[in-house]
Amino acid sequence: MKTKLGVNIDHVATLRQARRASFPDPLDAAAVALSSGADFIVVHLRKDQRHIRLQDIANLCKLFPNKMHIECSMGEFAEKAMLKYKPHSVCIVPELPGEVTTTGGLQFTPAVQKRVQELIKKFHKKHILVSLFVNPDAADLRVAARLGADIVELCTRAYSEAKTHPAAQKRLQELALAALLAQELGLEVHAGHGLNYHNVLAVADIGGIRCMNIGFAIMARSLFTGLPSAVEEMKNLL
Ligand code: PXP
Repeated sequence: MKTKLGVNIDHVATLRQARRASFPDPLDAAAVALSSGADFIVVHLRKDQRHIRLQDIANLCKLFPNKMHIECSMGEFAEKAMLKYKPHSVCIVPELPGEVTTTGGLQFTPAVQKRVQELIKKFHKKHILVSLFVNPDAADLRVAARLGADIVELCTRAYSEAKTHPAAQKRLQELALAALLAQELGLEVHAGHGLNYHNVLAVADIGGIRCMNIGFAIMARSLFTGLPSAVEEMKNLL
């Protein structure tokens, strides 16, 4: 089975917000990415709306209801938006004010488990699939399954930031074991964070990973090659 590609278009909005302008519009980017081979469009609605704004979520979910996969924190702002605009799926992620990007998977403290379970129930009532962003850790995967998640997105940050080949191999092994366990637990497996045109193949080779969510590398390449070609190239690698 071919691995699907979720294209994260947050940074189209980052560029727009740098000038508080009306363009480039993430809606246009989503249309181009989908017609170039993307299977899903991914955005992160942050509480500070520093890139993707609530109006973007409204527009994107209206135009591409079956294609939107939205990363959201456990806060009420994100919850309300998801329940109102009902994307195809959400990925619950930890969100810290001021962070440059998501720093890792969910830390399942008792309070986090309680809140995640509550969100999963509410999202399921609206027929929204729920993914949890998790580190490739057996205990965390078991918690994700117990809480009722449909999908786990394995955080590939440690792999993508590994400085040496042996270190990257070790991280890949962790991802492979996690992908296997997640499937045994009945979870659909996705992966993402820091993946690019050079490091994605090894993750795709693990097998069993149904979708890769990739943003920064595709957007960076699109500056030089154009978005259609940047998406097509990534899709061909998978
Ligand atoms: N998956 C999750 C859960 C993320 O938070 C991010 C970053 O927004 C990505 C995937 C995409 O990461 P990148 O932009 O490094 O490809």
